[in-house]
Amino acid sequence: MSAAFQTKLLTVDKSSVTFPKSSTQPHISDQLTLENLTEAADILTNTSNAVAFPTETVYGLGGSALNDESVKSIYAAKNRPADNPLITHVSSLEQLTRKFLGSDPIPSIYKPLIEKFWPGPLTILLPVRKDSPISKLVTAGQPTFAVRIPADPVARSLIAISDTPLAAPSANASTKPSPTLASHVFYDLEGKIPLILDGGPCSVGLESTVVDGLSKPPMLLRPGGISLEEIRSAGGSEWSDIVVAKKSAGENEKVRTPGMKYKHYSPKAKVVVFNRCGDGSDHIRRYLKEAVKIGQKVALLKSVKFAKADHISDLITLEDDLGTSGAEISRNLFAKLRKLDEAGADVILVEGIEEENHGLAIMNRLSKAAQEVIEGDSK
Ligand code: TXA
Ligand code: MG
Repeated sequence: MSAAFQTKLLTVDKSSVTFPKSSTQPHISDQLTLENLTEAADILTNTSNAVAFPTETVYGLGGSALNDESVKSIYAAKNRPADNPLITHVSSLEQLTRKFLGSDPIPSIYKPLIEKFWPGPLTILLPVRKDSPISKLVTAGQPTFAVRIPADPVARSLIAISDTPLAAPSANASTKPSPTLASHVFYDLEGKIPLILDGGPCSVGLESTVVDGLSKPPMLLRPGGISLEEIRSAGGSEWSDIVVAKKSAGENEKVRTPGMKYKHYSPKAKVVVFNRCGDGSDHIRRYLKEAVKIGQKVALLKSVKFAKADHISDLITLEDDLGTSGAEISRNLFAKLRKLDEAGADVILVEGIEEENHGLAIMNRLSKAAQEVIEGDSK
């Protein structure tokens, strides 16, 4: 059990933080930001408690990747079983080398991706050295570990100031949508962690892309902030045959039986995704007849094509827009699911989009959040 905490929310101003090219330590011009970052860093170095902090993807719940007790605190606060390896976050290539690689070079296949996407929402797998200090609870006993350098200056500073590589999954309660605002973290984890750094909204909104360049051909293990198309184009010939990892059975959106599916990214409301349903009018009307018969409060989350349907139905009580570009939809998805949930929706009807560019990661998260997927036949 995690201890009960009086959870502090401390504001940080990311625009006051810069990383001079010549240094691995940040320059922080705002005094309050420096004090708050130092307070968070002290918790990470002096205790085994986890703290929440903003990254460009989603808010993370970080603890030392070198310390079993810290990693246990992460799992306890999230109320998540320790069955999945975690991503380790480092502040620089220098820190990655000093803490984990020693004289081992980073495999050359990663070079073009690191040059283009680090710091940023790309996570790579590296071999665990025999004498590696990484906690086995981070790797779940695997011979590899997943690592990235976050682009958010607050995240990077926290790791640099504490000089502690951080294992950090998303800072939500297990099964809930990932947090893209500090208030989401507070809602889920109040009393379970000592501190949340509030750096404002996350700019990407979905988790990092995870790639394995150690296998042949290389694999996309999780779609995310960097698209498959971007990896192919930046990666050169070695990444041209990258394979998208198969969804596990538990992630299969075709599983309809309640309770059969591993819950993930799910608000309290039932999420129904409409794929290839044109402007949505026909399919939604058909669906609504059932929902309204049993008195459900129905919300509609539109994006590209549904937005053009002027008037889908009077039976919809809440409506919101995800935006139309992939970047906007990514940034809005988790926040809008949470918002409609808080507004009391029983069912949230969401417009699916094409699985290309940002769409692959968006549909990956949406299909895991969904209890039901309605397939239309329009293009
Ligand atoms: O954007 C992100 O990556 C966020 C923010 C907070 O940085 N973090 C995040 O971390 O999503 P986490 O620990 O929840 O990511 C776990 C993902 C899972 O898909 C897991 O399977 C994969 O990373 N992963 C981690 N270590 C792995 C390994 N050794 N082999 C294969 N997959 C691994
Ligand atoms: Mg997560």
